[in-house]
Parts: sequence; structure tokens; C-alpha cells
Amino acid sequence: MCGIVGYTGHQKAVDVLLDALSSLEYRGYDSSGISIFEGTKIDTIKSLGRLDQLRERIDSQKKVFSGTCGIGHTRWATHGEPSDVNAHPHTTKKLSLVHNGIIENYVQIRQKLQADGYKFVSRTDTETAAHLLDRLYTGDPMGAIRQLCSFLEGSYAFAVLFWDHPGEVYGVCKGCPLIAAKGKEENFLVSDIPAILPYTRDYVLLEEGDLVKITADSILIQDSEGKEKIPNVQQAQWNMEQAQKGGYPHFMLKEIYEQPKALRDTIHPRIVDGLPDFAIEDSIPDGFWRQFDRISIVACGTAWHAGMLGKGLIERLARIPVECEIASEFRYRSPLLDRRTLVILISQSGETADTLAALRLARESGSTTLAVVNVTGSTIAREADYVIHTFAGPEIAVASTKAFSVQLAVMYLIAIKLALAGGRCQPDEARSLIHNLLEAIEATLKVFDLDSAIQKYAQSYVELKDLFFLGRGLDYSLAMEGSLKLKEISYIHCEAYAAGELKHGTISLITPGTPVIALATQDALLSKTLSNVREVISRGAEILLLCKDTFTPESELAGKCILLPALDDLFMPFVGVIALQLLAYHTAVFRDCDVDKPRNLAKSVTVE
Ligand code: G6P
Repeated sequence: MCGIVGYTGHQKAVDVLLDALSSLEYRGYDSSGISIFEGTKIDTIKSLGRLDQLRERIDSQKKVFSGTCGIGHTRWATHGEPSDVNAHPHTTKKLSLVHNGIIENYVQIRQKLQADGYKFVSRTDTETAAHLLDRLYTGDPMGAIRQLCSFLEGSYAFAVLFWDHPGEVYGVCKGCPLIAAKGKEENFLVSDIPAILPYTRDYVLLEEGDLVKITADSILIQDSEGKEKIPNVQQAQWNMEQAQKGGYPHFMLKEIYEQPKALRDTIHPRIVDGLPDFAIEDSIPDGFWRQFDRISIVACGTAWHAGMLGKGLIERLARIPVECEIASEFRYRSPLLDRRTLVILISQSGETADTLAALRLARESGSTTLAVVNVTGSTIAREADYVIHTFAGPEIAVASTKAFSVQLAVMYLIAIKLALAGGRCQPDEARSLIHNLLEAIEATLKVFDLDSAIQKYAQSYVELKDLFFLGRGLDYSLAMEGSLKLKEISYIHCEAYAAGELKHGTISLITPGTPVIALATQDALLSKTLSNVREVISRGAEILLLCKDTFTPESELAGKCILLPALDDLFMPFVGVIALQLLAYHTAVFRDCDVDKPRNLAKSVTVE
């Protein structure tokens, strides 16, 4: 995810900025850039690729930076592919600006600015903010930034240099962290604590809506109304490694906790007038969704499970037949494809070899391809006919968590869009589904209240060798994901079964003490799933039930339930999956496993 660094002091800014940016490399990025005051001018240099490429460019252009005030950025592409021109800072006649976050209404603002003659060179949402701020600026930096914020929707942290205010760095944040740090005759403005650790440990965490101005010897903070605030200076206690994980012991846990934000970032920009809209963000015209009479979803691993849930949603809401297949199987079975088939490829990395091969096969067969991808500029994103980017930010832990949730959320939008396009639901019904989706996103926060209870169940799984997951309908797909999560990081052998299928063979494996996790989050299937649960209990199984908090457990289930925030059946996977991720995570920690880098696994599988 993007990183921001601002510096003003007595050292050469180029050295401090590059050094501080390199301590943010763990966050993932694909381009970088810096702007430095050289006298009264601002000099900017940017490069696609790693920081070393930026350093090489500085050398090859024989740039001599001697200024002591500047801003820098590492960009993880969301809007617009990774490239020199899309890299930050974005510079205008009056200012230079870097940005973290997503400006949800950038298309509308951009259109207005273009109509007024502003020329855009990049495809980023950030350039919109730079031009708008340029337009609003008449000599008062704080006033102009405050006005800018009143126009923006979404989340952001900015660091800005104004040409006529040398030696000063300005910033503002909403929904994205920004930290002012106090050194000796030097001050910093950064997005993450690791960037300041080599220089100082004294920092001020800006609050929602705060504006800041730093000079070499002062930090001025104002609230969104312009009222000056007394900085609450704290001392960083973390070492570099702890700081990179934001205080979490593992990237996986950090990423599990990032899900509400990732979901908001992915979904909010795609809702217009209460309805799904892919025209604004993804340039997919409304007519697109009426062209298909069959859909094939193709993916691997966790992304395949998001596809399985997507199949359930699309078939239920849009009544279009959907196949969901593992990419390595799909590519070798001569699948039936034609131009009336939409092939949806789901991939976090956008580089998975089998999914990429499936995409190429689908294109050769004349089908339209739509990729749901987290990494902008990845091969799958580049080669697909259409792309919907998920905005989970970089996922560092090998086991996929937040990428799954955002893929799932996009499947809801697609299902609702298809239902509308096919006349299967009216706008009012679609609005009510979107309302439920947004409610589900906020409900994910409540699952974290269950963390310590889930940890206790995990502790009881430390010695396990085998475990079964059961579920019906959407819960069956979710059971597959819960099972994969647990086996990949805790090395416990798990199997997920359709609850009704167990009696056709696998129930022979249930003996006294066999652990079974049953998912029963669907009211419509509750009595059926509970019958299957009783079947295994009567054979001695040790049950753990995941159900809605509106369910009153009978005596034999008392104390054996994880009660999830109750939502409409269709939306329960959002809260269910977080409980399963936490269960897998804590079990792996108790078993002393290498949670972020499980044995034999790779984050991006670029071989067959
Ligand atoms: C690997 C990863 C999984 C991931 C799968 C698909 O196996 O370990 O976590 O789900 O690849 O990756 P993709 O990047 O295509 O989503």
C-alpha cells in the first residue's frame, strides 16, 4: 500500500526521503517519487519500479538535490496502472502533492475540472485532488486544504508542498493514517511509524480531519474547523519489525483486521444512487451486463472459494447459469465457451499461471473476459477485456484473508447488477440488497469482539490431527474456505463437506471425540443443518457451531457456539469468514507455526 514521507529540517531531504521510503517497502509498491524544494523551485522525480530505480534515475539524470524540505511517496497502484506518469508526487503550477487512500468521487470532479480547461496527464484519482487544490489555492495553504476536503468523498492522507511556501510541508487525513513526528531542528510527516524510527521516536497521531503544517522547528495542528490543537506527543515503543506490522504480531492478523476498510474502499466507489455502478470506476458500460446467457467463474485457491459463493449469489439473484471451476481443471477440459459466455477470472495477484492460462483460453474461444484482480497492472488485469479492481491493498501473508472478502463483495455487486440488467429485480429491491451489503460491511467490525472467545476454541485444537467442516448452500462454500485456511497455516488435516452428503460415506470417520465445525448461518437451511449436526453429535463428535446470534442453542450445543452478528442469510459469509480466519490464525499460533509463511506455499503461484 502507498507510503507517504514529508521532511523539513537541516539534512539533505533527498537522503532522508529515500531512506524513510525504504523502511516502508514492506508495504508493497510499484513506483515511487520525490519532490524537493531547491531554493524557491520544486524539483520532482519519479520512477516506475523499486526505489533503486528511482535512485538510478536520479544518478543518470545527474540530479543534484541539495534542498532540505520535500515529500516522497511509494505508490501501490489502484487507479491507473503502475507507471512513471501515474507515480506521485503530482505537481501543478502552485503545488506538489502525494496521496494515500481512494477518492471515491474523483470521476465527477475530474470531469468538471476538464470542462474548465484543466489538463490531466495521469489516470489517477490523486491528480484530481492536485488540480482541485491548485484551483482553490489563493495564498492560504490551510484554508485551501480545508476547502479541498469539503469536496472529496472517500479516504485520504495528503502531504503537500506549495511553491510559495518553501520549507513547509502541509498535510491532512481522513480515513488514512498520518503522523507528524518531532525531531531536533527537523520534523516529519509520514503515513507509518517505521519511516521515522531512525530519526526520532516522538510522534503525534493526527485525528480524523486534522490539518497539519510542519516547519523545521514547529508542528501546527488544526481540527477540520480550523481550531488549533495542542499536539499529543507520544513515544514509539516499537522496533522496526513490530512497527511494520502496525503492532500486530503477524501480517495475517493485521490483514484480517483491515477487512472493514478494504471492503469500504472496494464497494463505496461503486455505488451510485444506491445501486451498483461499474461505469464510473471500471468503464464497464451498463449494456455489458445484458449480453450473456452463461457465466464461467475460474480461479484458484481462496479466490476459487470467492467464486463458489459468487456462483450461489448470481444464480439466486440473476437466475443465470454459472459454473465455477478451478483454473487448472478448466484449462484442460475443452470447456464449452462462446461469445454469449462471460468468463470471470478472480485473482488476488493477477499472476497465477493457471488462471492466466484460463483467461487466454477463454479469449481465444471468443468469450468475453472480466477479471476481478487486486494487483493493478498485473498480467491478468492487462490481458482481460474488462477489469474490476479490488482495493484491499497489498496482502503480505501467504494465506489470503482481506483479498477474499473484497472478491466476495464484488461478486455481490456483479450479482445485483446482472439481476437488474436481466429484469430479475427492480431498482428498489436492488437498493435494499445494497443497503444490506453496506450493513454487512459494517457488521464485520463486530466479529472482532469475538476474537478472545474464538482464541479459546483455537486453544482446544492445538493437538488435533483431523477436523471436519460442515455446511449447506453458501455455508458449504464458506466451510471450504474455513477448511483451507486452517490446513494451510496450522497443518491440521481438514475436510469440508456438504452437510447433507456426509451420510453417504464420510460419516464413517466420525467417532467419539472427532472435532466437527458446523456452519449454520442460513435460517432457510437451519433445521436441515441442525439435523446433520445431531447425527454427528450422536456418534460422539465434538461440535463447534457457527450461527447467528439470534439462535438459541439447545442444551447439547450450549457453550459450543460462535454467535455471529445476525444479517440477512445472503450476507452472512462476510461475518462468518472472519470468524473462520481468526480460528485458523489462533490455532496456527498456538501450534507455533510460521503463520505468515507456511511451509511449501507461495503467495503468487506462477507455475503450473
Ligand atoms: C496461492 C496462494 C493462495 C491463493 C492462490 C490463488 O495458492 O497461496 O492464497 O488463494 O494462490 O492466488 P491468486 O493470486 O490468483 O488469488
